Amino acid sequence: MRELRDSIKSWQVVARRSNGRPRLPTNHYICNMKILFVCLGNICRSPLAEGILQDMASRAGLHWAVESAGTNGYHTGEPPHHLSIKVAKENGIDISRQRSRIFVAADLNNYDMIYAMAGDVLEDMKRIAPKKFDAKKVELLLNELYVGENRDVPDPWYGTEPGFHEAFAIIHEACESVLKKYSDKEIKKYA
Ligand code: 4NP
Repeated sequence: MRELRDSIKSWQVVARRSNGRPRLPTNHYICNMKILFVCLGNICRSPLAEGILQDMASRAGLHWAVESAGTNGYHTGEPPHHLSIKVAKENGIDISRQRSRIFVAADLNNYDMIYAMAGDVLEDMKRIAPKKFDAKKVELLLNELYVGENRDVPDPWYGTEPGFHEAFAIIHEACESVLKKYSDKEIKKYA
């Protein structure tokens, strides 16, 4: 976390001091990433990812839009699972106002990057958006931590509270990588 904080801090310094073009206005961090997290029900894993990355980005002063969706639509309109809400709250993040929505093909147009929580989710996404599916902007979230290993975020839906804590921890770690990756890209763009 300290390494991440230092990275963000140095980026902010670069942003303030940059004399080249394009130039960032003082105290204004142009970093408009739109990221979507996708799981099956959009009530357990992807709402955690949305809450975690949005919280990290906001704390870093980044203007990122972070959202989430699910491929099965069974829980459309519902709030996140009560244990996802509980675990997020224990970690200082309020996800209670999120509502489940289904992943649609148009999402491929509307986000810069889309992270699937697991391989079955990725297959569902290809089925839902066969023409628009773009492998360049879709990735398994855990490939940001374990490159090329195609690991799944374990689904806590069928289990008990410890599974939600485990999901939170691994998603949090992966989101730190995502934040660092895309804020570093902005440093290079504006340095
Ligand atoms: P999620 O977990 O994909 O992490 O939200 C699930 C929640 C509900 C179901 C499956 C997975 N379900 O089949 O209802």
